[in-house]
Amino acid sequence: MADNIEEIKSKLDIVDVLSEYLQLKRAGSNFRALCPFHSERTPSFSVSPDRQIWHCFGCGEGGDIFGFVMKMEGMDFPEALRVLAKKAGVQLRYQDPAISSQKTKLMDICKVAADFYHKVLLDSPLAKSTRDYLKKRQVTDETVDLFKLGYAPENWDSLNKFLVQKKFKEDDIFLAGLTVKKERGVGFFDRFRNRLIFPITDLHGNIIGFGGRWLGDEKADMAKYINSPQTLIYNKSAVLYGIDKARDEIRKKKQAIVVEGYMDCIASHQAGIENVVASSGTALTLDQVKLLKRYTANISLAFDTDIAGEDASKRGIDVAMAQEMNIKIITLPYGKDPDELIKKDKEAWSKAIINAKSIMEYYFENTLKKTDLNKVEDKKQVAKTLLAIIAKLADTIEQTHYLQKLAELINVEEKILREKLNRAAVIKKSNEKVQAVAVKKGNRYQILEEQVVGLALKYPENLNYIIDHLLPDFLHDQNISSLYKELIIYYTKKHEFDFANFRLVLEKKDQKSASQADLLILNIEHFFPEADEDIIKKEIVTNIRELSKHFILEELKNLEQKIKKAEKEKDRDKSRNYSEKFIELTSQLNQLS
Ligand code: CTP
Ligand code: MN
Repeated sequence: MADNIEEIKSKLDIVDVLSEYLQLKRAGSNFRALCPFHSERTPSFSVSPDRQIWHCFGCGEGGDIFGFVMKMEGMDFPEALRVLAKKAGVQLRYQDPAISSQKTKLMDICKVAADFYHKVLLDSPLAKSTRDYLKKRQVTDETVDLFKLGYAPENWDSLNKFLVQKKFKEDDIFLAGLTVKKERGVGFFDRFRNRLIFPITDLHGNIIGFGGRWLGDEKADMAKYINSPQTLIYNKSAVLYGIDKARDEIRKKKQAIVVEGYMDCIASHQAGIENVVASSGTALTLDQVKLLKRYTANISLAFDTDIAGEDASKRGIDVAMAQEMNIKIITLPYGKDPDELIKKDKEAWSKAIINAKSIMEYYFENTLKKTDLNKVEDKKQVAKTLLAIIAKLADTIEQTHYLQKLAELINVEEKILREKLNRAAVIKKSNEKVQAVAVKKGNRYQILEEQVVGLALKYPENLNYIIDHLLPDFLHDQNISSLYKELIIYYTKKHEFDFANFRLVLEKKDQKSASQADLLILNIEHFFPEADEDIIKKEIVTNIRELSKHFILEELKNLEQKIKKAEKEKDRDKSRNYSEKFIELTSQLNQLS
């Protein structure tokens, strides 16, 4: 397994891997981004291609590509390993228990189940009417293959039997959401029966759950759709149907289109518009918005409900607005949903997409539709409704634009509206501040210690000065202090400094301190990306001065205690001794200040 990991690491570049999730900007030899793991306005997330590591100086998280994917995707190690192996084109040995987890086991079961349903749909006489149904709905064979559509026969246990034959445990099949426990007696029966099957994948194409459309009598008291229950791998509110097939196109077109139904998504892909995902009938959730945000900030929604009027959709839109997404609303010229529209007229779907209205325009029009601006009451209502929406805009220029528009519309001074708006904004800001302070880790001296040793490593031309002035005792952090001691020994011996070589020495002693050295350098590269010699020198001098002051102050405090104790014990010699030291240190302190 260790071989696999090394092979994957050697084939992937950390910048490529992280670029899938973050907007990386070059800063010197490194890259920066807003940290995905805590909320911030200025980037403290740093990536080093040289060292193939990442670290956030805001929240303290850091590691390699595996750690990143695990944290970002909420994956366990075997899952992350699969994802990165696939990306690297490295073949994993699946039987290795070290690289499977409960989650990957459930994914394996879902994959085999999808193969089963798919094969039944293609070949079984039981699926004849389903094949006809799909033809009637103009779903092509290629589309059936691409989305791996399937058919779950009407029997009670065909899938369960098949999977047990394939050596999967019944308990695991149940945990994958594919069977239901019998109420009476023991055992399980298939969850999906006589249904058209839509396998649902994560963005890497792993099958994690299923949707099933009832194909029997419409009058039968059956839910039109059922979905997998919540499982270890399937979380309905985090899923976007079709994301694995849409993601590249979303990135390319810089736009994601969100439809409601599985069939809408499929029909659009078949019609050649592939930047489309389905929300599966629910309002957009934060998880879904964040997933899309990895690829674009522009989303267009094609929901058949009245968005401004319906609470659930509104909530979804609020979530997207808070994430600073640019939202557009697609209105269908006719047809119940995009699937129907596409059937009648492919071009009409493309046009509807192009003609999508920005959410603000949409809200303005919808709010005004129901009002008479000659009535004061209506005016007040319009102002209230629209101000609440304008307040949600994250961008101030956009905010001003719509504020002006509203002011004109209801003939009220912009200033008055802005006052109302600002009151709401102040509250929002102060909440953010509290959060920002909460994530700052470590105290000031910890930061100084890390910084000064980092500067020593990154700018070794200052080592003579540093070693002369910075005593290891000034450093409270045991790891940093011992790293610094190693540095002194190394430099005193060699009279020159080469980081790569020094790192080897550290690595031989202890892998951890080598990694820490990497991190200390990354820290410097992050906070002083384009600093010149003089700035660095100044920084070193003031850092050391601060640290020695701090050290002396602490020593003085200790001495004070000791003096008190000695006096209590009437130990004159000790007391005099300490007092002399005290005076000496005080004068040192004065010199520093
Ligand atoms: N849905 C669901 N559970 C339900 C009903 C609907 O998960 N009980 C989701 C499905 O993802 C479905 C979407 O909501 O695709 C939209 O539902 P609906 O408009 O009723 O179905 P269509 O997708 O239009 O399906 P069809 O065209 O086959 O009627
Ligand atoms: Mn439909």
